[in-house]
Amino acid sequence: MIRAERPAVERNAVTERIDFAALPDDFVWGVATSAYQIEGAVDEDGRAPSIWDTFSRTPGRIAGGDTGEVACDHYHRWREDIGLMGQLGVGGYRFSLSWPRIVPRGDGRVNAAGLDFYDRLVDGLLAAGIAPSATLYHWDLPQALQDRGGWPVRETAERLAGYASVVAGRLGDRVRHWATLNEPLCSAWIGHLEGLMAPGVTDRTAAVRASYHLLLGHGLAVQAIRAEAPDSEVGIVNNLSTVEPATGSEADAAAARRMDGHTNRWWLDPVHGRGFPADMREVYGVDLPERAGDPEVIAQPLDWLGLNYYFPAVVAADPAGPPPYARPVRRPHVPRTGMGWEIDAGGIEALLLRLTREYAAPRIYVTENGAAYPDVVRPDGTVRDPERTAYLHGHLAACARAARQGAPLAGYYAWSLMDNFEWAYGYGKRFGLFHVDYATQARTLKDSGRHYAGLIRRHRPTR
Ligand code: FCB
Repeated sequence: MIRAERPAVERNAVTERIDFAALPDDFVWGVATSAYQIEGAVDEDGRAPSIWDTFSRTPGRIAGGDTGEVACDHYHRWREDIGLMGQLGVGGYRFSLSWPRIVPRGDGRVNAAGLDFYDRLVDGLLAAGIAPSATLYHWDLPQALQDRGGWPVRETAERLAGYASVVAGRLGDRVRHWATLNEPLCSAWIGHLEGLMAPGVTDRTAAVRASYHLLLGHGLAVQAIRAEAPDSEVGIVNNLSTVEPATGSEADAAAARRMDGHTNRWWLDPVHGRGFPADMREVYGVDLPERAGDPEVIAQPLDWLGLNYYFPAVVAADPAGPPPYARPVRRPHVPRTGMGWEIDAGGIEALLLRLTREYAAPRIYVTENGAAYPDVVRPDGTVRDPERTAYLHGHLAACARAARQGAPLAGYYAWSLMDNFEWAYGYGKRFGLFHVDYATQARTLKDSGRHYAGLIRRHRPTR
């Protein structure tokens, strides 16, 4: 298929020379995925359902009625997928562990076969010279725990810690790099307030309680990982956004402050010993299920912070909407990805500097960054995706600028290794550096993957 001529600006973007001098020699060049999005094999070897199995089987929840039942069949093809990483030349792989594979009922009973899968994966990665970075919780709560109340109840936080002990006890001799939660904002706000992700609840009290127990679970899990594997480097992964008011009005300025609280400060402040932001407690108007000692648990010192960055937020006041009473505004004439997300590489630079200056981050990893476009494999076997190449290149250039200004940037994981199950959007949105043909499970390197490999080679010519 012949694709339309690209605007000149996109072709030019990749000619910008990136100055990598400020990146450390051991900078981790990586790719990221998550369990439910790639593994498939949802009924195999003792795995029990997660809230995403339930949610995706509920009619009307996922575009096209897609589910993660097969996904990229990574559960069976993981060796091949490590080979893909080798083709890119990455030194790090960020993946998540499937809680319902390992502790299927969410209680203490461990499913040995589930743990064995990750054991083999980790050994395979290490044999290929790729450092594993394991995330405990990338949204796939065991359905059994949801049935007992899910994140709005305290028990779930405690269960996360029990599961953390199990996996750190088994893998902690080989996995050094651990993340507790991926984007708790999505679990709490999108899953319990907007209802667009599992478990699909729209209840402000449930959402606020969920947010609290997610961060409590994070702190308990940090303690559990360190108890089992004292040399671990533990962090948390947040998706943050720069926030701008849509207009110069006072109402929009206040909306932007609320959105900043909702998106950024609510997740960062408590973890840094500052407690939950007072202004946002008032905005939500829900009592937190606090107990003595919790703030200290939540504020465990961390080895690193993970930043997932995709797009900036531009917001207007929305008094009739749900908290934070601010709604995203679609600015005309700005470049967007295939998700409709605004492209602004300056945002990643600003957020890296904010984490450095306001939160004194000891080390920062960009744990996700990438873009979806409707890619196709052409008859000659290539995938031309200049927009994704420009997106990655532009954001990496911004990362390098932040590093030059003092951000302790230690690594970058592109989202994603390969196209996968994009949550409520199903398989229609493709973020991969490899294209996946879901009918045949063929993986095809995209031009952007080639470009990324080239950048890695340039920074680490000896690898
Ligand atoms: C992030 C998620 C990740 C992926 C990307 C596109 O919010 O962490 O699983 O879906 O968005």
